[in-house]
Amino acid sequence: MALVLGGGCASREGQGRHQYPVPEMTIAISFDDGPSEKTEQLLAVLRENNVKATFFLVGQLVENNPEKTRLIFTEGHEIGNHSYGFEGLGKNGKAGEAAIRESLRATSAIIKETTGKEPVYFRAPNLDYSDTLTGVVKDMGMSLIGAGVSGRDWEADISTEEIISNILGAAKDGGIILLHERHSGDTERTIRAVPVIVHELRLRGYEIVSVGELAKKKGVSPEAGIRYDSIGNAMNGRADNTPPLKESYINQFLIGNVMSPGETGTPRFDILSRHFNVITAENAMKPSSLQREKGIFTFEQADRMVDAVLAQGLKVHGHTLAWHQQSPDWMNHEGISRSEAMENLSAHVKTVAAHFKGRVISWDVLNEAIIDNPPEPADWRASLRQSPWYKAIGPDYVEFVFKTAREADPGAKLYYNDYNLDNQNKALAVYNMVRELNEKNPDTGGRPLIDGVGMQGHYRLNTNTDNVRLSMERFISLGVELSITELDIQAGSDSRQTDRQLVEQGAVYAGLFSLFREYAAHIGRVSIWGLDDGSSWRSAASPCLFDRELKAKPAFYAVLNPVSFIAENSIKLIREAKQGEASYGTPVIGPNPDPLWNNVPALPVDQYLMAWQGASGTVKALWDEKNLYVLVQVHNAELNKASPNTYEQDSVEVFIDEDNQKTSFFRKDDGQYRVNFDNETSFNPPSAGTGFVSAAAVREKSYTVTMTIPFKTIVPAADSFIGFDVQINGASAQGIRQSVAVWNDTTGNSFQDTSGYGVLKLIKN
Ligand code: XIL
Repeated sequence: MALVLGGGCASREGQGRHQYPVPEMTIAISFDDGPSEKTEQLLAVLRENNVKATFFLVGQLVENNPEKTRLIFTEGHEIGNHSYGFEGLGKNGKAGEAAIRESLRATSAIIKETTGKEPVYFRAPNLDYSDTLTGVVKDMGMSLIGAGVSGRDWEADISTEEIISNILGAAKDGGIILLHERHSGDTERTIRAVPVIVHELRLRGYEIVSVGELAKKKGVSPEAGIRYDSIGNAMNGRADNTPPLKESYINQFLIGNVMSPGETGTPRFDILSRHFNVITAENAMKPSSLQREKGIFTFEQADRMVDAVLAQGLKVHGHTLAWHQQSPDWMNHEGISRSEAMENLSAHVKTVAAHFKGRVISWDVLNEAIIDNPPEPADWRASLRQSPWYKAIGPDYVEFVFKTAREADPGAKLYYNDYNLDNQNKALAVYNMVRELNEKNPDTGGRPLIDGVGMQGHYRLNTNTDNVRLSMERFISLGVELSITELDIQAGSDSRQTDRQLVEQGAVYAGLFSLFREYAAHIGRVSIWGLDDGSSWRSAASPCLFDRELKAKPAFYAVLNPVSFIAENSIKLIREAKQGEASYGTPVIGPNPDPLWNNVPALPVDQYLMAWQGASGTVKALWDEKNLYVLVQVHNAELNKASPNTYEQDSVEVFIDEDNQKTSFFRKDDGQYRVNFDNETSFNPPSAGTGFVSAAAVREKSYTVTMTIPFKTIVPAADSFIGFDVQINGASAQGIRQSVAVWNDTTGNSFQDTSGYGVLKLIKN
């Protein structure tokens, strides 16, 4: 990096010559140890460069230099407390608690007297902190400020260049720069470094502000007694530094997380209790943990955890009494008689529910009893999973287990809990089941049998919140309580997340929590499944609010304040559409591709929308004044067209938005064209089929589709753009769609919304 020293290019005229990028990052700058004989000189440099900083002032020097102190303040800088006589107040100092208190008090008092404003930030001399000092700072309502980005300008032989490179090397979004307006060496080397640092940081896209302004920008209200080396950004802010999540949801619903007995009494438990007010045992209260051997109940671990959680003032939710997983084989093995299975179920439920009676607020009585995407949701019995309990007892095990639980602990709210309840068929089956059982049992202990429905909420980036909303409304209409019981949002793979994925994940969390706030009157609890990405059951997909180092991710801030998260990130969330080119020419459409295609660039259709990564391929496009011609080559397909739903068959779909207006709904220039590997076609709207011609050719696990798609509303010209996308549907051997790959639009909504399409430029020669 070429560094330019001196005023020159970084002076105000200099800035005029430079086009700084629009800042996307914020960093704070602070100067310690003043006021001094250098104050005016430093203030002039800051003024010239249009920077507002934080000055940590020494009380005694404030007392001796009231004019300089006032000048700092009236020029718009922020003033912090830096002790009274720069005495050692921390671990290395001799000051006792009373002396510490007096030093801080006197300093804040003189600053207030001089400027009219009492400081809210404290930085310890030599960054020497101790618990006693921290306690005093907390009592005084101040936050502790460290120095994440230090110039080390106090070092004896350090040069201006080294100060600059120390800062530029450590700079990061949310960081706090430490420099000195006075130190034992040549203070002017610091003052010379300032314009260069400011200029270089602005070139990199930083806005340079005071500590208070940084906190504001990051939406963090610094807390008394907490030390900040950097503030509030996704990448910093440890879980135990961040504002308590639960306070954002007071009077709305409980907010929870999971833990294991081993975490009792650890720092992780402190973090859990800082942010959450209800705990679910991730595994410790499941049947296999509590009654691995028939008749031998092992409550020790769970008890230890539950009692610690209660002692901390948090609530406990019980998970789970009956499930097809994590249950010992003896309970409901193949061939067991109905009566023996019922005895086993009732003994387990009675003993466990009675044991925790009074200590849990609610139970997941039955977990995951309905199959995925049931074809006949109106018949909930036919939608029941063929689980061991079902096979041994039959569909009435559902009612039986709830009745048994109600008797054993009439005080606990009884929940039915399941995943994928954003699937409308599954939600409908659950709805029908709960409705029937509650109508049949309107008064068990003064109320209907099932108190609540738990939507687990294991979601992904393409989860559609509209479906979550529909299901929530459906369950609320039953008059039961609703809880979100195991929320996590997968984003990324291999334990890595791109910056974009972090923000997109935050956006999904924000969208969901906005929804939850809307329905807060009906929601009992929202629990996240996992404190941090490292401990999550879906660790590789980084689904939690905290990262592996327990730092708050964008997702955390999204939950803390969904509205401001969306407002602050909306620009970043606009996805740049991919752009491809269509060449000019009129190919012959037939089973063997016209040689004209050879020179057309291929675009990849390889972004997957579902967990399974099946068929993918490439697409090429040609155009003339009448038609768009499309060639899709698909590989890795297990060819299957058994499903009556054409989109579930191995097929390709082309989406066209002729005027490239990216509307959120289809207009007359928009169309969807589907061709399966057998050249069977379907269209949306159906009229889009007029004049359409296609051919398909299969070779082992590959197939090729060519199409002639007449333009409906435009006569295209060279160098114009149309909205365009391609989707490859991959069917499983059972004929169910298990994989979807696209060129650009990852919303999964291309069939009704053109806003996510890529763009095709029509090239002539
Ligand atoms: C998971 C736990 O998180 C894992 O530690 C364990 O190995 C398997 O179970 N739905 C549920 C939870 O109801 O109990 C599951 O928890 C996740 C899916």
